[in-house]
Amino acid sequence: MTRNTLDKKTLEVLKQKMSEGLLPQWVLTDPEVYQLELQKVFGRTWQFLAHESEFKEPGSYVTRWMVNDPVLLVKNSAGEIKAFLNSCTHRGTHLCTADFGKKKTFTCAYHGWSYNTDGELIGIVAGDKVYGEEMDKSEWGLRPIPKVAMYQGMIFGNLDPDAISLEEYLGDMKWYFDMLLGRSDGGMEVRGVPQRWVAQANWKSTSENFSADPYHVQTAHRSTVEMGISPKDPLYAGYGHQVVMEHGHGINVITSATGRSIHRYQSTPESMWPMFERNLTPEQADILSRTTVFVGGVYPNLSFVSPIHGTEGHLHNYLNFRVWRPLGPDKVEVWCWFMIDKAAPEDYKQEAYKGYIGSFGTSGTLEQDDTEIWARVVQASKGLMVRDKELSYNNVSNYLMGFGHVDPDPSFPGPGVAYPTCYIDAISRSMHEYWLELITKDINDSEEGC
Ligand code: FES
Ligand SMILES: [Fe+2]
Repeated sequence: MTRNTLDKKTLEVLKQKMSEGLLPQWVLTDPEVYQLELQKVFGRTWQFLAHESEFKEPGSYVTRWMVNDPVLLVKNSAGEIKAFLNSCTHRGTHLCTADFGKKKTFTCAYHGWSYNTDGELIGIVAGDKVYGEEMDKSEWGLRPIPKVAMYQGMIFGNLDPDAISLEEYLGDMKWYFDMLLGRSDGGMEVRGVPQRWVAQANWKSTSENFSADPYHVQTAHRSTVEMGISPKDPLYAGYGHQVVMEHGHGINVITSATGRSIHRYQSTPESMWPMFERNLTPEQADILSRTTVFVGGVYPNLSFVSPIHGTEGHLHNYLNFRVWRPLGPDKVEVWCWFMIDKAAPEDYKQEAYKGYIGSFGTSGTLEQDDTEIWARVVQASKGLMVRDKELSYNNVSNYLMGFGHVDPDPSFPGPGVAYPTCYIDAISRSMHEYWLELITKDINDSEEGC
């Protein structure tokens, strides 16, 4: 049986080290921690499922996962997007195994029960003869995901029926979603299907790598500097602001060294700029117009990056959203979406897609750099020295960048606590603090004293 929390002594050591800006390395690979995370982090927080543009017409569906819970999302005949546990109510078979498609009914491969796009059970093979006429089909419909909500076209689910609302959970991140996803008439669209692959990694490392760590860019992605794609200045990914938000969310707003615009509105076509200015507040337009890269995340496992790619005269911007689905303490399934303004010209969209494939797609240059690093982190975090919970070997990771000596910048025009640099561990520390809050909740519920 999984205990409700960690033992008292381990928790004390953990809290003490975190208050010093350090994180014991064993939290990455400890099986007990992983079980707690499944229950207390992923069982209670909002997780990204799909974008509304993935559902073109009634019957359009996609299948997703909330860690180990299979999810079927489908647009019903009234145009509403519904989300169900993708499991037949007869004996639990995985109902729809295709990634996406269009259907009027979903029929189980085991005994043939079938469901409509509202999740209602509409067909039982030889029904009346084998179950009698009394069996009430309305009691055997697909089980809905307890909470489903959408913000700026982004559909999230929550397995906790008592969870706070999505809007409350996103908090200040809504302002940045409004800026990134709500800047164009018609919003954004997903192109293609999400790419996915399995990486040797812990989900906390991958989330943190995107949400909180521009510091790695100059070293892990050194080849891009050598190829002339990234600047030579080792501080280049540190200029701008790192913004910390509640519930472990955060965004890095990376600019030029001066903070002034080099590629206005991220090199989007000039014809789109008046539309951005019409849809955004002056503060949002100011930030959007002079930022080079936005990279951040919604805790626990949604990350995003909005970069500029290409060569001078052929620069493009797009949005890459990704979910880190844990498959174990040392394994992650990466789900990776390409998104772009619906209102952008078609040839621009196509060029931007090529830029995405070459950088953050499965085989992209930047992706391969990171995948190799994440594997190295877990490979070196499984041994006896690292797993010692008493920390006799000083087996802690360093989160001291900017710790206690960099003050927030009150002049930053967006919400959240903004620090005047992206080379700082402020978001990482906030993610770990929220993680600790979640995994220690209900500490008094367990008699084991956990
Ligand atoms: S398990 Fe689906 S019809 Fe029997
Ligand atoms: Fe990276």
